[in-house]
Amino acid sequence: MADTMLEKEYAKSGLLKLSRDFCERCGHAPLAYVHSFGCQQNVSDGEKLKGQLSGIGYDFTDDITKAQLILLNTCAVRENAEDKVFGTLGDLKHLKEQNPDTVIAVCGCMAQQKHVAEKIKSTYRQVDLVFGTFAYNDFYQMLLEVLTNRTRIFNQSEKPSDIDEGFTQLRSDKLRAFIPIMYGCNNFCTYCIVPYVRGRERSRKPDSVIDEVTKLVSQGYKEITLLGQNVNSYSYGFSELLKEADRIPGKFRIRFMSSHPKDAGKELIDTILESEKVCKCLHLPLQSGSDRILKLMNRRYDTKQYLDIINYARSKAPEFSFSTDIIVGFPGETYKEFCETKELVKSIKYDNIYSFVYSRRSGTKAAELEDSISDKQKGLWLRELLLEQREVSSQWLSRFVGKTVEVLAEGEGRTGEDYLTGKNDEGIIVEFKADKKYIGEFVQVRITKAMNWALEGELVEDK
Ligand code: SAH
Ligand code: SF4
Ligand code: F3S
Repeated sequence: MADTMLEKEYAKSGLLKLSRDFCERCGHAPLAYVHSFGCQQNVSDGEKLKGQLSGIGYDFTDDITKAQLILLNTCAVRENAEDKVFGTLGDLKHLKEQNPDTVIAVCGCMAQQKHVAEKIKSTYRQVDLVFGTFAYNDFYQMLLEVLTNRTRIFNQSEKPSDIDEGFTQLRSDKLRAFIPIMYGCNNFCTYCIVPYVRGRERSRKPDSVIDEVTKLVSQGYKEITLLGQNVNSYSYGFSELLKEADRIPGKFRIRFMSSHPKDAGKELIDTILESEKVCKCLHLPLQSGSDRILKLMNRRYDTKQYLDIINYARSKAPEFSFSTDIIVGFPGETYKEFCETKELVKSIKYDNIYSFVYSRRSGTKAAELEDSISDKQKGLWLRELLLEQREVSSQWLSRFVGKTVEVLAEGEGRTGEDYLTGKNDEGIIVEFKADKKYIGEFVQVRITKAMNWALEGELVEDK
C-alpha cells in the first residue's frame, strides 16, 4: 500500500509537470472530455475520476473534438449500452487521425471484461487505455505511462483494491449529490453482469459516509442519494446509517437506491416513516411477476413476499411511492408469464417503472438458457407493458391533485416559459410557474393537474 501511494504521488507530480508544460505551450490547461454511461454508481465513479483529473491540472470540456483526453466510463448491463460505446469509439477513429496526440481511454464496467478489452485491442486501435473498475487507484500511473511512452495499456485486474476514502469528487450538480456507500454485488441474479464486473460487496465505513453527507449539506446540497447495488446489505446496518444521516442538522432530503426485495423489510419501511428527511419512496426492483421466472432469475423472493412489503408500507402511509425495474422476455418466459407481470404491475400502482427487454450477457447463467422468443416479439410485450403503466400512473398520480406538496426547485421547466421544474418527496416531477430566484429552494406547490409524466401546480407563496 505504502509503495503504491508513493508511486501514485510520483505519477501525480509527473502529470502536473506535463499539464504545466501544455499550458505554457498552448495558453490553456489540457482539456478532458469525460462521459459516464449507465447507473448513478457509474456517474459517481466518473465524478471521482474527474476529481483526480482536476488534481493534475485538467479542465473539462463538453466538446469532444477539443479534448486532449477523452474518457468514456462505460456500462455493460445490456447490449445496447455496449453498442453505444462501440459506436462512439468508431466515430473517434477519424478524430484520432487528425489529432494523434489525443488520448482515448475507456473505463468502467465494459472495460473490466476481458473479451471487450480484446476486441478494443484488435479492432479499435485509436484507443490508448482500457481499464476496469478495479484499477481506478492506478489511474495516475497508467495515464503517465500512456502520455510519456505512448504505449497502449490494458488493465483488467481483478484484485479488489482498498476503498479509497480520500477521493475528491467533482460534482456537476450543485443541489443533488450521489454518495456511494458500498460497491459490488453478491447476488448473482442469473441475467446480470454486474457481479462479474464490479466484484464482491464492499461497504464504506459509516463515519466516513456521515462526514461526507455533513460536508455536502454544509456546502448547500439539498438532496443526498446513498448508492449501492443493494443498500440493504450494507455491512454496518443500513437502517442505522439512515437514522444517523437523518440526525444531521439542516434542511435536506435523503434518498437511496437500490433495495433488493429479499432484504428490504418492515424495519426499513419503519425507519423511513419515522425519519424526517428520508423520502417516502422506495425503488424496489420486481423484475418479474411470475414466481417461476423469479426463481430462474435467482431473485430469492416470491411475489407474495414482495407484496407484503408494499402492503405494509401502504397500510402505514397510503401515499407511499414505489418505483421498479422490470425485465421483459427472460429466456423461456411465456406470454402468460409476461401477463402475470403486467397484472401485478397494474395492481401495485407504481409511480415509475423502468422496463427493459432481456439482454443476453455472456458469462452469466441465463446466457446458457434456451431463448426462443424473438427480440421483436419481446419489444411488443414491452410496449404493451408501457401502455398499461401509462394509464395506471396518470390515474395514480392524481392522488396529489388538490394537495400542497414540498418541491425542490431544480431548474427551468418544459411546460412553458416561466415554469420551473422540481421533484416532490416521492420523486415525482412537478412543474409550476415561478420566478427563477426559487431555483435551489424548497417551495410549497399546490397541485392542480396530473399529466402522465408529471404533476402541474401553483406556487404557494409565503405570507
Ligand atoms: N442492483 C440493482 C440493479 C442494477 S442493474 C438492483 O438489483 O436493483 C439495473 C436494472 O437493469 C436491473 O434492475 C434490471 O432490471 C436491468 N437488467 C440487469 N441486467 C439485465 C439484462 N441482462 N437484460 C435486461 N435488463 C437487465
Ligand atoms: Fe444485478 Fe441482481 Fe446484483 Fe442487482 S442485485 S446488481 S440485478 S446481480
Ligand atoms: Fe451499468 Fe455497471 Fe452500473 S454495468 S448499470 S454501469 S454497475
